[in-house]
Amino acid sequence: MKSLLFFSNNNKKIFEVKKIFNSRKIKIHDLNEFEKIKEPNENGISFSENAKIKSSFGLKNFNIPCFADDSGLCVEALKNKPGIKSKRFLKKFNTNLSAFEYIIGKVIKSKNSRAYFKTSICLSIKKGHHIIFEGKISGRISEKPIGLNGFGYDPIFIPDGYKKTFAEMNSKEKNKISHRKIALDKMESFLFN
Ligand code: IMP
Repeated sequence: MKSLLFFSNNNKKIFEVKKIFNSRKIKIHDLNEFEKIKEPNENGISFSENAKIKSSFGLKNFNIPCFADDSGLCVEALKNKPGIKSKRFLKKFNTNLSAFEYIIGKVIKSKNSRAYFKTSICLSIKKGHHIIFEGKISGRISEKPIGLNGFGYDPIFIPDGYKKTFAEMNSKEKNKISHRKIALDKMESFLFN
């Protein structure tokens, strides 16, 4: 395999993925290199289903082996929500800060701060040939949002073994341990070992 399409136009993710594959003899393309397309409806009921919807669409549309990821935050106090609806959940609030306050309120009420981030990556090599790689990082919801780095829920997530949120870490530090990195490492060893 000489090239792979990463089905994403999120520059932060693209940067992370390209960095990981930098030393490999494989060219990683991304959606920004192509004319804008109407993206498929992510109506799966799991991270892996949504990842597969995107990677199989990419393979069919561009005729290149394609991979896509789907991730989110699962909070025990919210019955493991927002989960696959993490992106939409943030949009329901006027600001990310009010979404964080809502989550922290639920955590305080239930006295349970456990949470995890999960990523599923689907690699679609050819029609009917799809492989899923998963990554998960467990931790807890912080008492207040802290930190300016990263994106999404980073300011309220403290991974196990750390005393700071993802948003207090620089990208190098976060990308060493993140859910996405764990899943990408699995895909990398599948492709190159
Ligand atoms: P996606 O499927 O990877 O685009 O993730 C969906 C949503 O989950 C994002 O819009 C974020 O709100 C949240 N999310 C996923 N990964 C992370 C992360 O590493 N940090 C913070 N939020 C994340």
